[in-house]
Amino acid sequence: MTAQPTGRYVTTSVAGESFEAFVPRPLPPRLSTRQLATLTEPLREAEAALARLDLAGEMIPSLDWFIYAFVRKEALLSSEIEGTRATLVDVLAWEQTDQAGDSRIEDIEEVTNYVAAINYAFEQIHSPKGAPISIRLFNDCHRILMQGVRGANKQPGETRRSQNWVGGSRPGNAVFVPPPPERVADLLRDLERYIYAEDDLAPLLRIALVHVQFETIHPYLDGNGRLGRMLIALLLDHWRLLKSPLLYLSLYLKQNQAAYYRWLSAIRIEDDWIGWLRFFLDGVSEIADDAAHTARGLYARVNKDRKTLLATSGTTVTAIQLFEQLPEHPVITMPLVTRLLTTSKPTAGKAIELLIAAGILAEVGERKRNRLYRYHNYLQLLE
Ligand SMILES: Nc1ncnc2c1ncn2[C@@H]1O[C@H](COP(=O)(O)OP(=O)(O)OP(=O)(O)O)[C@@H](O)[C@H]1O
Ligand SMILES: [Mg+2]
Repeated sequence: MTAQPTGRYVTTSVAGESFEAFVPRPLPPRLSTRQLATLTEPLREAEAALARLDLAGEMIPSLDWFIYAFVRKEALLSSEIEGTRATLVDVLAWEQTDQAGDSRIEDIEEVTNYVAAINYAFEQIHSPKGAPISIRLFNDCHRILMQGVRGANKQPGETRRSQNWVGGSRPGNAVFVPPPPERVADLLRDLERYIYAEDDLAPLLRIALVHVQFETIHPYLDGNGRLGRMLIALLLDHWRLLKSPLLYLSLYLKQNQAAYYRWLSAIRIEDDWIGWLRFFLDGVSEIADDAAHTARGLYARVNKDRKTLLATSGTTVTAIQLFEQLPEHPVITMPLVTRLLTTSKPTAGKAIELLIAAGILAEVGERKRNRLYRYHNYLQLLE
């Protein structure tokens, strides 16, 4: 057993091979005033970027649009880290028509599971009778995330009962061996307690600590990365750093994956929390400014297209009504339009044609049946 400031190694064995598993100490780590001082500036920047994002959100009347789009984009990116390949249009089309386009159904399923899990989590924490951020909520989200073929053998909704590892073909040659399964319950309880405990540390820093601790515990057989990233979004809400769920770090973590993994290991091996915290804060600044930019861009796009549509000769009320639905339904089919607008097929068809003529809708592929149309310019800003 080797003593370690951020935790300790315990010797365990699986299939006759013995190895060292890492058991982290409960949060928070001891950080000196001098260490924390190095974070003052990046922290101030990240908080300012969040405030700007909040403002951008407030200036937009139909915030639900953006949340709708951002959550799907996040789901796609977060699932991509693991190698899932699906396009945004295919995911949106699947939600409307159950047709997968060129993406594989298992890939799309993984993304829609992610959307379902994060929506479920936000509903729960916002509803008076719902579950708060807790082990129970993690388990429920895990169950939703693992729905379907790929997750079936990953013990959906349950923390693991066996030893897992990260990198390598067995614990003996792994990059990282998380705590033995019998320690997981206690470690998660400590983490839950920390989320509700008083701490003078800035909430943004606490989120970064919680994320790492969750990854280090690695409580599930799979999906630890996705749940840990979801947890960041939930905590931003919990600690009221954002009024609306508009910040998702998956893009940053994906683009900087090597550094991200390096920091996760550096905490364990070198007790270097500051490097990670700084990396996390930089990500928040970058992504918050990006998100504010995208939200503004989407808003401007819709306004511009609305003007174009109103100026198009022969515009109908139905066409305008359909247009107003597009931000939350950027991929549509005829049956969807007749349902959304409770109108007849010919009227819906006319509205779709008008929007195509105005350069707003474009057909996706060349299907004979169940034709798909996308709000092209809008989706381009998201892709
Ligand atoms: N060296 C490491 N130390 C601690 N945690 C790590 C390390 N390398 C990766 N991780 C964490 O493990 C996660 C992957 O775990 P898992 O496969 O259970 O999650 P996932 O959601 O299926 O995958 P992914 O995060 O790749 O999408 C990574 O996202 C990262 O957070
Ligand atoms: Mg995985």
